[in-house]
Amino acid sequence: MDGTGADPDMLPREILSGVYVCAEAADVARTAARWFVDWAWQSIAKDGNCNVALSGGSTPRELYGLLATPEFRAQVDWPRVHLFWGDERAVPPESPESNYGMARRELLLRVPIPPSNVHRMEAEDPNIGRAAHNYEATLRQFLPLDDRGFPRFHLILLGLGHDGHAASLFPGSKLLRETSRWVSTPTVPKLGSRRMTLTLPVLEAARRALFLVAGAEKASILREVLCEHPDPPLPAQLVKPREGERLFLVDEAAAGQLSASQSQPIPKGKS
Ligand code: 6PG
Repeated sequence: MDGTGADPDMLPREILSGVYVCAEAADVARTAARWFVDWAWQSIAKDGNCNVALSGGSTPRELYGLLATPEFRAQVDWPRVHLFWGDERAVPPESPESNYGMARRELLLRVPIPPSNVHRMEAEDPNIGRAAHNYEATLRQFLPLDDRGFPRFHLILLGLGHDGHAASLFPGSKLLRETSRWVSTPTVPKLGSRRMTLTLPVLEAARRALFLVAGAEKASILREVLCEHPDPPLPAQLVKPREGERLFLVDEAAAGQLSASQSQPIPKGKS
């Protein structure tokens, strides 16, 4: 064990700048939980609160479950944490598809976070455009702005889609050229269904963007994102915080097609 109580065998190794590999998906979640605790303390010490955008997906689910365990729950000053979402499906909270619903079951019901600190995207609203507008107003109310006037999260959690999407920014979407809106409501190309998502300028304004990626089925797209230069770039490649850092926390299976010799290190952002 080191001074943090972590088993050194479980510590991730940095194989490229900002890319950390853990043995298994469970270790990815555990490392992310440790980082979450540390970063929450840092943000609260500096700014008095910690504003986090959560993501959907399978790896975050494990992270949320861990944060709700007695070991981690007690290490976070939940009344000072505000939770938002990076994206949401157009379904009610009770739906198994709801990103909010998943976080509610795994985390929110099990930690002492005040309901007024939980800011879900109401993407099930039949007038989803109005709901997006309302979400922008919520962000305006709670978040400081960066020098370009975009809301600045302490942390944005992200997954990596099989096609390189991040949040609900999909390859080929004209939304990738968005320069002014904070929240948008794209249609998912393959499903024809709507989503609500933070836009690229908001992802770029984050102090930290953390991708959680696990499983051999992500190995090929992770290699493409980290080591190749498709034209146009994939959405996940475009998530580059301007005054912050982009981190990838991945398991061995997802990292299976990365090799240090092939890889082009990603320049670390300023933190
Ligand atoms: C979602 C997210 C999406 C997700 C990736 C990865 O709501 O599903 O928008 O961006 O993070 O598709 O998901 P997995 O971690 O489940 O593979």
